Amino acid sequence: MSTRILASSTLVGRSLFQLGERFPELSIAWKAGLPSAEALVVLLSEPITEADLKLAPQLKAIGTYSVGTNHLPVEACHQRGIRVVNTPGVLTEATADLALTLLLALTRRVSEGEALVRSGAWKGWAPEQLLGTSLSGKICGILGSGPIGRAFAKRVWALGMRPIFWDRDGRNHPVDFGAGIAKRLPLKELLHLSSVLSLHCPLTDQTRGILDRRMLGLLPMGAILINTARGGVLDESAALEKLHTGSLGGVGLDVYEGEPRLNPAWFTAPNAVLLPHLGSATRETREAMAQLLCDGLAQALD
Ligand code: DGY
Repeated sequence: MSTRILASSTLVGRSLFQLGERFPELSIAWKAGLPSAEALVVLLSEPITEADLKLAPQLKAIGTYSVGTNHLPVEACHQRGIRVVNTPGVLTEATADLALTLLLALTRRVSEGEALVRSGAWKGWAPEQLLGTSLSGKICGILGSGPIGRAFAKRVWALGMRPIFWDRDGRNHPVDFGAGIAKRLPLKELLHLSSVLSLHCPLTDQTRGILDRRMLGLLPMGAILINTARGGVLDESAALEKLHTGSLGGVGLDVYEGEPRLNPAWFTAPNAVLLPHLGSATRETREAMAQLLCDGLAQALD
């Protein structure tokens, strides 16, 4: 009998199908199959709990179609010898691109401009129409100096911004982000300096809620905040409050605490660009993620 793999969903491309050729007992089903499953393929939108692990006594590996693993009980998996396979590396550029998209959409008021044109109400060029904010010469604070944070730094550097970093592990040596070298600073110091702040750190016990009301209050007046990491890193109620008072000049979000159920206050929030967790959503990236996941899972089951 071959290894029983339970996948909660199909993936982009052919990798899962090919994994099924190698392990014919692969089925697309969900939690009802846990008692006999030896491996799982899961999405970031499908949290696995320690209680689920108890229902799956034969489990040897979990492959998640994401780089983030905050929806998995990683520690409990390690204790039980269950391998956790994720997809680092292959979504770096796509996620950094999306963070840049949010930044440019906000600072150049893309959504409002497009809505004006589509409404048919545009009366032509006007000196004060939809004025945005220039980025060149400004400082961009980046939380997380991993591959995505560094790829984002390269992009804002190309716009003439100066990136600076903070890291959850407290390191303080400079960060080589490929196009240049940037300072790594303590969090409060970084926040004081950042006209733009972009989040690129994983959600861990250390980063959960790290950007709370007090920390957001350290940003310069009118700062722009971008989150393509995880919703839980940011206190969204505090961000909404600061957006309404103008102490935050704009917020661009791709991720939300409790997504896809959003705090309804976002629906009418001013100066916000809101996307539905699209960071890795290019065909090429999702195919590469599927390949990495299926290869890693096959290796873990060998
Ligand atoms: C991940 O892989 O963790 C990303 O959030 C997916 O877009």
